Amino acid sequence: MRSTNRQAAALAALLSMIACGPSSGAARPAERLSAQVGAPGIGDPDFPLDGNGGYDVSHYSLKLGYTPSGKRLDGVATIKATAKQALKRFNLDLKGFEVSGISVDGAAATFSREEHELTVAPATPLRQGAAFTVKVTYSGVPEPIQNSSNLGSYGFIPTPDGAFVACEPNGAKTWFPGNDHPADKATFDFEITVPEGVTALANGELTGKPETVDGRTTFRWREAHPMTTYLATATVGKFQLRQGRTPDGIRNLAAVDPKFNDSLDRLYEVSGEITDYWGTVFGPYPFSSTGGVVDDFSAGYALENQTKPLYGGFDPDDDIIAHELAHQWFGNSLSIKRWRDLWLNEGFATYAEWLWAEHEGTNTADALFQTFYARQATDPIWKYPPGRAQPGDLFNESVYGRGAMTLHALREAIGDETFFKVLKTWAGEHQYGTVTTEEFVALAERLSGKQLDSLFDAWLFQPRRPTI
Ligand code: ARG
Ligand code: ZN
Repeated sequence: MRSTNRQAAALAALLSMIACGPSSGAARPAERLSAQVGAPGIGDPDFPLDGNGGYDVSHYSLKLGYTPSGKRLDGVATIKATAKQALKRFNLDLKGFEVSGISVDGAAATFSREEHELTVAPATPLRQGAAFTVKVTYSGVPEPIQNSSNLGSYGFIPTPDGAFVACEPNGAKTWFPGNDHPADKATFDFEITVPEGVTALANGELTGKPETVDGRTTFRWREAHPMTTYLATATVGKFQLRQGRTPDGIRNLAAVDPKFNDSLDRLYEVSGEITDYWGTVFGPYPFSSTGGVVDDFSAGYALENQTKPLYGGFDPDDDIIAHELAHQWFGNSLSIKRWRDLWLNEGFATYAEWLWAEHEGTNTADALFQTFYARQATDPIWKYPPGRAQPGDLFNESVYGRGAMTLHALREAIGDETFFKVLKTWAGEHQYGTVTTEEFVALAERLSGKQLDSLFDAWLFQPRRPTI
């Protein structure tokens, strides 16, 4: 609805300019007003209301209190951002909760809410380029996103002993206000207070020992590297932990719900071994710690939460650990600017599973490619072009499997040496940044010296089985 209104407003503005001719230089009052309102979406054509326009977040500081018995979350989010344009109003994404107050640079702001858009009007407008701090105080029972199309449940999901927090693609808004789209990455601090005996696991590393006062324990975590909102987690519950370092010296933390106690050592060891191996294939591990978390909520999926992949209610095998850890490079360090480029995450992580099998000697990437390729011409993966992930079916099997096949086809075309150089260069040149498919194609062409348009077009963009 809103984007339709905006389009209508833009059209009206354009028509009025044509009517007045180029000589009327002064902006009409309506144009001046609209220029100072941040857009309700960041500009992803497939998710018009996800994220927001007009500003860029650099840091989230989330102070959260959570009580599993009452499922009540009390939050104070302090968000540091920069205005990309003069702003009299801007939006944050937030689903549910009662918002009790908002300040901008310490001054009380007014705000209104409509669906998942929280519109903030600072007491004084923000100048273009101004750094500002928004503080939002909120509380309530989180409302995760349930079974929207084929995504299952995601967001902040209360469980009997705490919460399972996995937010891809746009569920961060179910537990903190922000710019909920991967195009705006930021660093994070978490201060999470839970009943004594319960553990809160967020991204990055603990900044001190958990402190217990009056039967409640506070955990402070910091992710000092840029992170997309959907990778943020504050998974809470009873956990068995194992901590140490990988053989190559990266900090490693594995945590399992007591129901999965028998999986703890394997999760810890395999995660460490695979993290180190990916370091040799993709280039240095981009973050300060690795690991994994198994919770007893049966999500039906795992998520590559930054530094702490989360496995939803199952004992993960090597394939999926290899997949989620490969995402630390592809998806987490390098993040997509638009959801339609999701194969840059999922195709790469799936191909990493094939590379791990090849490394272990249990299979070859080529045999795995051939298994997929043998699917008959009527199989749905040939209809769905993986290079354009569809908003109603983002995580389609094609984005994973045919995305991985695309990389194998590239490897066959340019040879192992150049192919692995492409992977390392890709991860290195865009570390901590945002990326597009066009940039990947350009890099592959630059390093191979080959014209690869038709290869990528056939594999990524055509609704039919490519010929090989
Ligand atoms: N990125 C995850 C993976 O490939 C999948 C997340 C799916 N999200 C969801 N809400 N079902 O492991
Ligand atoms: Zn994945």
